[in-house]
Amino acid sequence: MSSSLVHRLLQVTCLTIVSLVAGANGSSLNSSLANEIKGAMLASIRTSWEQGTAAGAIIETDNPEYSVFASSPFKSQGFPASPLRLAFSAAVRQTSDGRLSQQINDALDGAALDGASAGSAVLLGTYTDPSRQAFWQQAADAQLNFILNIAPRTSTGAISHRTDSLQYWADGVYMGFPFIAAYGAVTSNQTLLMEAYTQCKLYRNALLQPGPTGPLWAHIAFDNGTFSDPGLWATGNAWAALGMLRVQATLLKSSYAHSFSLEINDLKSWIKEILDGTFAALTSENLVPDYIKGGPTFGDAASSAALASVAYRSAVLDPVVFGANYTNAASKIRAAVTKGVDNLGVISPLVDPLNWSQEGKLSTEGQAFGLMLLAAWDAWMQTQ
Ligand SMILES: *[C@@H]1O[C@H](CO)[C@@H](O)[C@H](O)[C@H]1NC(C)=O
Ligand SMILES: *[C@@H]1O[C@H](CO)[C@@H](O)[C@H](O)[C@H]1NC(C)=O
Ligand SMILES: *[C@@H]1O[C@H](CO)[C@@H](O)[C@H](O)[C@H]1NC(C)=O
Ligand SMILES: *[C@@H]1O[C@H](CO)[C@@H](O)[C@H](O)[C@H]1NC(C)=O
Repeated sequence: MSSSLVHRLLQVTCLTIVSLVAGANGSSLNSSLANEIKGAMLASIRTSWEQGTAAGAIIETDNPEYSVFASSPFKSQGFPASPLRLAFSAAVRQTSDGRLSQQINDALDGAALDGASAGSAVLLGTYTDPSRQAFWQQAADAQLNFILNIAPRTSTGAISHRTDSLQYWADGVYMGFPFIAAYGAVTSNQTLLMEAYTQCKLYRNALLQPGPTGPLWAHIAFDNGTFSDPGLWATGNAWAALGMLRVQATLLKSSYAHSFSLEINDLKSWIKEILDGTFAALTSENLVPDYIKGGPTFGDAASSAALASVAYRSAVLDPVVFGANYTNAASKIRAAVTKGVDNLGVISPLVDPLNWSQEGKLSTEGQAFGLMLLAAWDAWMQTQ
C-alpha cells in the first residue's frame, strides 16, 4: 500500500469521524466535512441552475434562519451576507428579459425556469438589505414577471421548462416553483402561493409514470404527451421532491397556512410517493441508482443526498407520516454519501450533471445536495 493511499485512508477516516462526532455534539454545519463540501461547491464554475441551487444550500448552512424550514423565514433577522453574495452575482448577470444568472458564455440558455432557482435568494435581499432594496426588488420583480408572463405555457397552463418549445422537466419543480411561493409569502399574495402549488400538480400530472418500485417521475415530457427522456431519473425525482417540499414549507409558513391544508397534504403525499419509489430502489452500497428505470443504474450520491435531505426535513415537518423507516433509510444514505467525499471535498460517485447517462467527476448540484443533507440531518437531530 503506498504512503499516499495510507494518508488518504486516514483522511477519509478522519472526515467520517468528524461527521459522526458532529452529530453527537450539536451542529454538523461547522464540521470540516461541511466546509470541504462547501468549498468544492463554491469553487465550481456554475451555470444558472447551479448558481441558484448553491445559493439555496448556502441559505440552509450559513443562514438557516432564512430557510423555508425556519420559524419566520420571511422576516428580517439580520444581514445574510453569504447567500446575498450568490444572489448578487445572479442579479448582476440577469438578462433584460428577467432571467437571473444568464449572462454566461453566449447568454443563450434555452431554459425558462433555471434562472429562477436564484429567485428566493434575490428576494431575501429585498427585506434584509435596505442599502440595495431597489436593486433587489427590481431583480426579483423582473424574474417573477418572466416566469409568469413571458415564459411559454403548455396546453395545461404549466410554465414550460424551455423557452423555445413546450416541455416539462422534473428539474423545473425546484427551479421555478419555490420562488413563486416565496414571492407570495413575502408579499402575502395568496394567488401566487396557489400558483406554486398548481404548477407542481401540473408537472406531476405530466411526468408521473409507473415504475418497478412504484410510481415515479419521468425526466422530460413534451406538451403532446410523448417523452424526450421517459426514464425515471433519480435526480429528476430529487428535484421534484426538493421543490415540492419547499413549496409545502412555504405554504405552511405563510399567513394563509389555514386555507392551504388540502394543498399541503397533496404535496406531502406526492413527496412521500417519490421517497417510497426511490428508497425501495437503493443499491447494495445504499445509494439511489442514477435511473430507477430506463438508464444506467450506478449508485448516484448526488440524488441520494438530495432525497435523504427530503426525508429528514419531512420527518421534522410530519414525524407521523415520515417515521423511522424514512429516517433510517436517510441515515444509511448519509453514511454512504459521507464515505464518498474525497480530499477536495468532492462527492462521488455521481451522475454527470451535463450527461445523465454517465458518471461525472464533479457536480455543483451534487455538492449543494450534500450540504442540504447535512443541514436537514442537523435539523432532524435537534428534534431527537
Ligand atoms: C398577486 O400577484 C399577482 C402576480 O404578480 C398580481 O397580478 C396580483 O395583483 C397580486 N395580488 C395581490 C392581492 O397583491
Ligand atoms: C410530440 O412533440 C415532439 C416535440 O415537438 C415531436 O418531436 C414529436 O414528434 C411529437 N410526437 C407526436 C406523436 O406528435
Ligand atoms: C414506510 O412504511 C410505510 C408504511 O408501512 C410504507 O408505505 C412505505 O413504503 C415505507 N417507506 C419506506 C421508504 O420504506
Ligand atoms: C453521454 O454518456 C454516454 C455514456 O457514457 C455516451 O455514450 C454519450 O456519448 C454521452 N453523450 C454526450 C452528448 O456526450
